[in-house]
Amino acid sequence: MVPFSQYLTEALGDPEEIVYTTRVGKSSTVASRAVQKGNKNASIFVVVLADTTLQHQVAAEAPNIIGAKSGRKAVVAAIVPHEARDVDAWTVYEPAGGTIADRLRENHDQVERVEVVPTADTDADTEVELEFDPPPVVVLPADHERLVVDERIRRMLRLAIASSRAVMLIGPPGTGKTTLLLEAFQDAQEDPGAYGLAAAPKGTPLVVTPEEGWTSRELVGGETVDDQGHLRFKPGYVLDAVRDKTWLILDEANRADMDRIFGGLLTFLSGRAVTLGRAAGTSDAATIRLEPSDEADNEVVNPEGLVDGAGGEIVYRAGRDWKLLGTYNALDAHRVFRFGQALGRRFARVPVPAIDTGQFHEALAPRLDQLTEGQPNVNVDRVQEVVEGLYAAHLGLLQPVVGPALFLAVPGYVSSGLALGGDVDLEQLLLEGYLLGAGPLLAQLEPKTLDTFKARVVTAEQLIGEGQWEFLESLLSTLT
Ligand SMILES: Nc1ncnc2c1ncn2[C@@H]1O[C@H](COP(=O)(O)OP(=O)(O)OP(=O)(O)O)[C@@H](O)[C@H]1O
Ligand SMILES: [Mg+2]
Repeated sequence: MVPFSQYLTEALGDPEEIVYTTRVGKSSTVASRAVQKGNKNASIFVVVLADTTLQHQVAAEAPNIIGAKSGRKAVVAAIVPHEARDVDAWTVYEPAGGTIADRLRENHDQVERVEVVPTADTDADTEVELEFDPPPVVVLPADHERLVVDERIRRMLRLAIASSRAVMLIGPPGTGKTTLLLEAFQDAQEDPGAYGLAAAPKGTPLVVTPEEGWTSRELVGGETVDDQGHLRFKPGYVLDAVRDKTWLILDEANRADMDRIFGGLLTFLSGRAVTLGRAAGTSDAATIRLEPSDEADNEVVNPEGLVDGAGGEIVYRAGRDWKLLGTYNALDAHRVFRFGQALGRRFARVPVPAIDTGQFHEALAPRLDQLTEGQPNVNVDRVQEVVEGLYAAHLGLLQPVVGPALFLAVPGYVSSGLALGGDVDLEQLLLEGYLLGAGPLLAQLEPKTLDTFKARVVTAEQLIGEGQWEFLESLLSTLT
């Protein structure tokens, strides 16, 4: 990326003015970036937008960001798509009488267009006061109920993060792998030392789900052809995450052929530097290198080399605190690429098994509370008996093992059903809620296994009535 802070400070000709630059992609909002730590003293707030569609957000937020109380004079926006070389058009949002746009026009000949959008002439009374204490980073909802997980599994995850650059959680579907990683991230923010980190991890992790068609270009970066037909290097998720100093999470890594797309990352994960390509198709273009560093923090050397066409070296240094995390589900019926040994052993692999029935009881309790809160007349004991009984029957009798997620969702389904009012049968709702999650799994069972299962849940334990079971069986062929 263009080093905007420096670029702009020079263009403005006043080093006293502190420029804070942030890049805003699709999912982020301008407002939250504006109050992030680190820009308290900046009088000029610069947003670099990934595409034009984000500009209306800037226009809407600018009046809130500028003003006497915030100490900001202007918001400057530029649109820089990933492959762009230069920025030639900036938009300046400033109150009438502001000087930023004028000074940019005078002092910087590279900028072809400077457009001014006057913001209302705000006085201190009408200002929206900016909240400078950054809100805690939320990756899980505020009312998140912590997973019920063996303490030993949590410890393995924590120490794996402390001792390895790359960590993969492996287990059946619905055991809480993705959620567990997010919990670990939040824990690490509160107590970085416990995770072997020098400082709390920044921002929110970049979570991506690799797809079958991926190559190392998507994951790490690689050559691509720009609008003008020139070869250019486009950084992938790993380089973006190193640049932004955020952890990278490869969620459901089994969906892509990791052995194929890891490419140079294998070398990097072995602790050595790897050269990934050149910034452009010319032989004197800068080379791009990714290397582990002994510092805690990440650093990108000469990032402007990616866009300005100058030679030299662009170096992405991933500090000790930078982590590559992932989840891997070996059972996802249609989408499993196995990890080869070479790649596998470069990850610390943390097993996340399905919890036992005692732990399930504990995990279900808050969901039952929620159900009775909304539906005080519900026969919650029956809901508990059925859901716990079905989980235990799955654990005891069926392969493949699945985690608790689909069972824990049943009370929510029941709650929605009862909320409809009228004469709704609880037994029907329970069966439907269960079928939604477990149907495809039951549909794949051998007839003999299904009979054994029926003998337990219908005949012996009466968790499902005969009539409900018939309804379920009649639908299974639809689900295969
Ligand atoms: N051990 C647990 N304790 C409490 N809740 C759990 C547990 N495991 C799963 N859940 C519930 O199931 C939800 C889904 O879990 P999550 O998506 O993290 O599982 P996963 O292992 O990543 O699944 P998949 O392999 O299908 O991606 C969680 O948000 C949580 O509500
Ligand atoms: Mg998951």
